Amino acid sequence: MQQSDNQPAAIDVVLWQYPKNGSDEKRWTRSLSSNERERAATYRFERDRTSFIAGRYLLRQLLSAHAQTPPDELVLRADACGKLTVEGRNRLQFSLSNADGLVAVAIASGCERIGIDCERADAEIEAAALESYCSPDERRWRDQVPAGERPRAAVALWTLKESHLKALGVGLRQDPRSVAFSWQDGIPVMVQSGEPDRQWHHRLIESGSRHVVALAVRSHSCAPGIHVLTFQDDNMPSE
Ligand SMILES: CC(C)(COP(=O)(O)OP(=O)(O)OC[C@H]1O[C@@H](n2cnc3c(N)ncnc32)[C@H](O)[C@@H]1OP(=O)(O)O)[C@@H](O)C(=O)NCCC(=O)NCCS
Repeated sequence: MQQSDNQPAAIDVVLWQYPKNGSDEKRWTRSLSSNERERAATYRFERDRTSFIAGRYLLRQLLSAHAQTPPDELVLRADACGKLTVEGRNRLQFSLSNADGLVAVAIASGCERIGIDCERADAEIEAAALESYCSPDERRWRDQVPAGERPRAAVALWTLKESHLKALGVGLRQDPRSVAFSWQDGIPVMVQSGEPDRQWHHRLIESGSRHVVALAVRSHSCAPGIHVLTFQDDNMPSE
């Protein structure tokens, strides 16, 4: 599915508000590897275990279609920083995030790097925390939005930065303040030394839930085509 340089990258963003009552957990677990099952067993809180299992279940369902391999036969490997690849399909770009009831997966063809992050929109971010990941310009931008929208704006900045650091493969090992955003016509644009970086494309995705979802894509071609899908368990994703 490699595309030529001038074709826009095609990104599927798949969102799943999975049931949190645990009723389907056994079935989801059947498609996980033994390592994943072992990791699932280490979670202290049921909520975190369910979230991990739902994430890996959805990821395997989606990668299975791309790799044409049954979900339970896919071999997922994490590098030293935790970024996953599928054995034998190193060029397949994908990213996974989960946050309290929502799993988000982005899968791409024709791009170099991709990262996705989701967080609850009502996550409380204190002023001190805001300073620890935002530049003075970003804090000014956030202070200018109407008071009722500021908490969501703070979460949006956080998810944008985390999606970018996941696309780079470093995660929060790198200081989130090293990534700065401004806004053009309501679209976030990453700036380096005051100039927009045209190889990167960032988007906030409408999640239809109480979550903020951010996507980071590095692609030499023009703006990527982004297709947002809702996962229906037992079915293929549908719009
Ligand atoms: C990546 C990271 C920011 C995700 O944090 P989070 O908000 O708790 O989790 P999310 O739900 O958004 O994402 C989790 C997914 O990110 C992916 N991921 C983990 N590390 C990653 C990395 N370095 N780059 C890209 N993706 C990564 C995994 O697929 C993970 O899914 P899993 O939990 O099923 O394994 C965080 O785990 C991190 O900073 N990891 C790096 C830690 C580190 O310093 N490692 C040391 C060596 S570099």
